[in-house]
Formats: sequence, structure tokens, C-alpha cells
Amino acid sequence: MSQIAAPIDATQTPEWKALQEHFDALQAEGISLKDWFEADPDRVSKLSFDTSDLHFDLSKNLITDETVKLLADLGRAVGLEERRASMYRGDHINTTEDRAVLHTALRRPSGEAGSIIVDGQDAVADVNAVLDKMYAFAERVRSGEWKGVTGKKIETVVSIGIGGSDLGPVMVYEGLRPYLDGPAVRFVSNIDPNDVAEKVKGLDPETTLVIVVSKTFTTLETITNAKMARWWLLDALRKQGAIDDSAEKEAEAIAKHFVAVSTNLELVAEFGIDPENAFGFWSWVGGRYSVDSAVGLSLILAFGKDVFQDFLKGFYDLDRTFETTPLEKNVVALMGLINVWYVNFFKAESHAVLPYVQYLHRFPAYLQQLTMESNGKSVRWDGTPVTTETGEIFWGEAGTNGQHAFYQLIHQGTRMIPADFIAFANSANPIQCDNQDVHELFLGNFLAQTKALAFGKTADEVRAEGTPEQIVPARVFTGNRPTTSIFGEALTPHALGELIALYEHITFVEGTVWGLDSYDQWGVELGKQLAKQITPAFHDDEALASQDASTKALIEYYRKVRK
Ligand code: F6P
Repeated sequence: MSQIAAPIDATQTPEWKALQEHFDALQAEGISLKDWFEADPDRVSKLSFDTSDLHFDLSKNLITDETVKLLADLGRAVGLEERRASMYRGDHINTTEDRAVLHTALRRPSGEAGSIIVDGQDAVADVNAVLDKMYAFAERVRSGEWKGVTGKKIETVVSIGIGGSDLGPVMVYEGLRPYLDGPAVRFVSNIDPNDVAEKVKGLDPETTLVIVVSKTFTTLETITNAKMARWWLLDALRKQGAIDDSAEKEAEAIAKHFVAVSTNLELVAEFGIDPENAFGFWSWVGGRYSVDSAVGLSLILAFGKDVFQDFLKGFYDLDRTFETTPLEKNVVALMGLINVWYVNFFKAESHAVLPYVQYLHRFPAYLQQLTMESNGKSVRWDGTPVTTETGEIFWGEAGTNGQHAFYQLIHQGTRMIPADFIAFANSANPIQCDNQDVHELFLGNFLAQTKALAFGKTADEVRAEGTPEQIVPARVFTGNRPTTSIFGEALTPHALGELIALYEHITFVEGTVWGLDSYDQWGVELGKQLAKQITPAFHDDEALASQDASTKALIEYYRKVRK
């Protein structure tokens, strides 16, 4: 076991008590963003921050100067700065798996920032060796030097993985679509056979490259999908007369059309993929923190080396901001601490992330794994129970679609839902329509929503519009619904790297206050074990007999209706 000190119970610190008293005082005097803005003309400038590519406006949060000070005090009291240093240094802060947590090493430039020795190995040197191998491989594929078994250039990549081995790459692939200049990528994740069946539909196996992405190379979904893809590829090649059914030709086809990304190179070889065509990473990269490791291979194939390097630089720049800025001025730390403020003092249960960029439509899904697999926990890193609520539900949808779906609840529901609004000043598709810049129409909505949420609409304002008295209450907006605006110049690879690193560190900050090991995920294991035990019961009476009454009844129903 690693020598990580027991977590400090945040709730027992004088700083927590001070926050509680501050919260009670704010409740007693009444929170009014409108009044706070009027009383302090510097509120916006004091609560605005810039990182290299992103501009943050925190002024529409339910915080005052005092709150910021007290939250920073809390951060110091729970040892946030020490734990941050410990993470960047490669200490084994993932205690339940006794591992370092070093996604920050994945984007650290070689030389410039020095090496990080993890378990006797230079992590930065290892990262760069794999990156070089990925860049060289991607260049061969993109240029057409790498050929399929019949000598054709690769046109499509099928990336098979799930969770961290899928959500990050899909999200970034969608996010950076305007930069696509290599093979198109299709992603397969679900074990539902419909997923693989739909994704290989219409593909020419002679020009398809399959990447099997799995940190462990044991994940049921991925290995099953990889086997189905292998079967599809060989069968289709045979059917179109591209290969015969000799073992040599099959092995050659696999070698030309299958590559792997994994930490488990032995199992990769066992699957039949040449370890030469495997790209490694390390146990100190958590699955949900891995999009900037070899897990991003499909992105280098699709976008090329330069784009990926800019992407990594975005992460690195944000890492440096988080690492070097004093807490009161550290927007990354503050966003994490403000989330704690909402979860533990206002009792917020969820947090919406609302990108006003269609290209980021998978960002909320990506964040769900990042945040909830990390902080959805009830015990702390030393095994003791948590002492307060943890792990809010993250959710969202690209604007303005969400406006016509669930925003009603954010504006007028009984629950407080803090929300992050994300937008960029420049669109990849600047279009004028009927003398209207359509992007400005879009951005008008982005700004209108945070304004409505913050300042609301009083009954008198509603009446002044001539609204009949009986429906006035339904048209009142209370305001004081907190939002953060994240605005950037454009959704570039660099900006996207920053955005991802931002949420990685927000997750870390919250986890640190709550005393969590944000890097394990034991909560997903029981379901995996039970699925193995239940599956035989669909056709085996003995296995059926050992199931609980509900499972048994559902399987009996299945047996009745299955054709
Ligand atoms: O869902 C559990 C999990 O272990 C995730 O943390 C991980 O990202 C995913 O499964 C996939 O794991 P692997 O990359 O090992 O296939």
C-alpha cells in the first residue's frame, strides 16, 4: 500500500464552519445577483479569468468576495496544494489500486519540464517514445504507404473500445471535425451487436483499419466487438475473393487491418495482433483520463500530428495554470471549489454542462464518465465513510436543443442546477442568412440564457407586459440561478485540450475536498461479475434456478418471447 496520509475531513475544519456561517448569513440577508451586480461595479472584472484560449466569467455564480476567500481557505485546509503537487509528482494517490495518477505527464513536453520518474521509469520519455511511434504509424496510413492486404490505401478506421477507451476519442473526433483530413473514423462501443453491425455497414474491408482500444484488453464489450469485427473483416475479404482461407492469408489480413492500443501487450498478442502494431500506455493513466494517450490514436489518423500536438499543448497550458496559480486567482481550482459550495451547502444534486457549439455535442456524455466514475463514491481514500454529499450528476446537451427540452426545469423548477455555458466567438461555418450572421443568433441565445437565469423577471415586470393577473406567477423567474460562462476565440485543438484538462482538474479538486480516490471505479465491477453469472441462465435451467425471483421471472419472460 502507498504511504498517502489519511484525508482531512473537510467538514470538521474551521474553514468549513466559516463557510457554513457565511452561507447562513447569505440566506438570512437574501441572495440577489441583481443587487450584487448593482452594488459592485467591479464584480465582473473581479470574477473574470483568462487561460491561454478561454475566457471565464464566474460573476453569475452565487458567490461574493468573501465566498472566494473562504473557499480558497477550505482548499488550503484540506491540503489541495499538497495533493496537487503529489499528483503531478507521481505519488501513488490512487490508493485502492496503489498507482500513480499521471495523466499530466501525457502532455508534458520532453526536455522543457524535466522528467518524472514513476516506479523507476521516466514517464515523460516513455510517453514521447509512444507518441513518436503513433505519429510515424499515422503518417504511413495517411500517406497511403501503409496498405491493406490487397494493396489498397486505408480510407476508414473503425475504433472499438468502451468507456474511457471510447468516450474521449468520439467526443474529440466530433469536436474537431472541421480539421478532418485523414480517414473517417467510426466508433463501436456497445456490446449490443447492432452497434458493430451498423458501423461496418457499407465499409470495404480492403480499405478499413480496425483499432482495438482497451486499457486492460479484458473488457467483455470490446473483446467481443473486436472478435465480431475480425470475423466480419475475414469473411468479407473472403467473399470478395480478396483472400483465400489459408491461415497465412488470414494472419496477414489481421496484421494489415488490426492494430491495438492497450497496457496489456501480452493479451494483444494472444488476440492475434502483432505487438509491433500495438501502442502502449501505462497503469498510471486512468481510462477516463486517457484521450491524450495512445487511446487518441484514431485522432492522429483522422487529423494528423500537428493537430494532436496542438491538442496536447492545450492540456499542458491548462495544467500549468492549475499548478502555478494561487488558489484565489486559480479559475480551475475555484470552479471545483464552487461546485463543492453548491453540492454541500446549497445541496445541489446535479450540474449541467451546456456547450453552445454543435461540434461538442458529445462533451456532456464524455464528462459523465470523467466526473461520475471519479467522484460517485461513498468511502474515502483510506476506506472510511465520506462525511458529506459527493459526486453531483453531470448532464447536458448542446445548445439550443436543450432550451427546447429541459431548460424549463433549470429556469423555474424547484431544484437549483448550477450550469456551465460554453461558447466560442468564431464558428467553423460562418454563415449569413437573410442578412443575419447565424452564429450571432446562436450566441445571442447563449447570453440570453445566463442572463435570464441570473436576473430573472419579477411579477411587476410580468404585469407591466399586460399579463392577466392569474398567470403572472407562472411567468415569474426567480433569478439567482447560478451559471459560469466559458467563452473562447474558436474551438481549436488547443482550446479543446484546455477544456478537457479543466474538467479533469475540477474533478480532482472536488474529489480532494471530499477525500475521494477519484481514480478507481470499483462501483462498476459488481455488475460485470453478475452479468457473467446471469448470462448462462438464458438457456441453462440450473443457472436459472440460482437467480433471484425478479431476474428469474424476467428470464422466463425472455424464454417465452424469444424467437
Ligand atoms: O467502466 C469501467 C471501465 O473500467 C472504465 O473505467 C474504462 O474506461 C472502461 O471500463 C474500459 O476499460 P478498458 O479500456 O480496459 O477496456
